[in-house]
Amino acid sequence: MAYKSTLLLAILLNPVVSLADPAQDCFAFIVEALLDQGYVVLPQVFDTDYLACLLKELIELNPTDFDRAGVGREDSFQKNMFVRSDKIHWLSGDENYLSRYNRWVEALRLYINKHLFLGLYDYECMFAHYPAGAFYKKHLDAFKNSKNRRLSSVLYLNPQWGAQDGGQLVVYDKISPSPLFEVSPTFGTMILFLSEEFPHEVLPATRSRYSLTGWYRVNESLV
Ligand code: OGA
Ligand code: MN
Repeated sequence: MAYKSTLLLAILLNPVVSLADPAQDCFAFIVEALLDQGYVVLPQVFDTDYLACLLKELIELNPTDFDRAGVGREDSFQKNMFVRSDKIHWLSGDENYLSRYNRWVEALRLYINKHLFLGLYDYECMFAHYPAGAFYKKHLDAFKNSKNRRLSSVLYLNPQWGAQDGGQLVVYDKISPSPLFEVSPTFGTMILFLSEEFPHEVLPATRSRYSLTGWYRVNESLV
């Protein structure tokens, strides 16, 4: 009896024993997929209410809060309408509505570092708005002169998005000109992929296409 109550107490006091942790299950799935194939597509990491909250914040920004996206950084920076025509809003990371997203991103960073030794150091993110017809031609996310982006993430925020709306993310490998796979930017879908391994492009859509896009980076001074 004493043994049974000690065991019960241990279970109650130790959530690892009593409950499987869904976030950890999801992280294990992500790590395995990154190891096997270098990318993972997740249908629903965040619940609908939180996704709606993120979308509301994005939509309520003023047009002047968005920059026309450039290509490259610093001396290679050029606004190039032939390469991409989306609009972006960099996030500082301190936004209140991002706290839940940030907690997930940080927990995943620690989990990935522990299991894949990627040495991910920080994370930068932005809202992206592709107006109808906007696109981003085939590219790699790691900048030419700066190789610090290691893992790209895109969380799509487009309710009721159908195949007829377009806007697919088309992912390639470095060798073959034919696509590896496509992702439709439906509400809540998230993709993670190794930034240096997968050229990709965004096809034009028939209506506004929204996302929260980010990159885990390594410490540039150590690269
Ligand atoms: C990018 C990008 C993909 C997407 O911003 O670099 O490739 O599906 N985004 O929005
Ligand atoms: Mn990209």
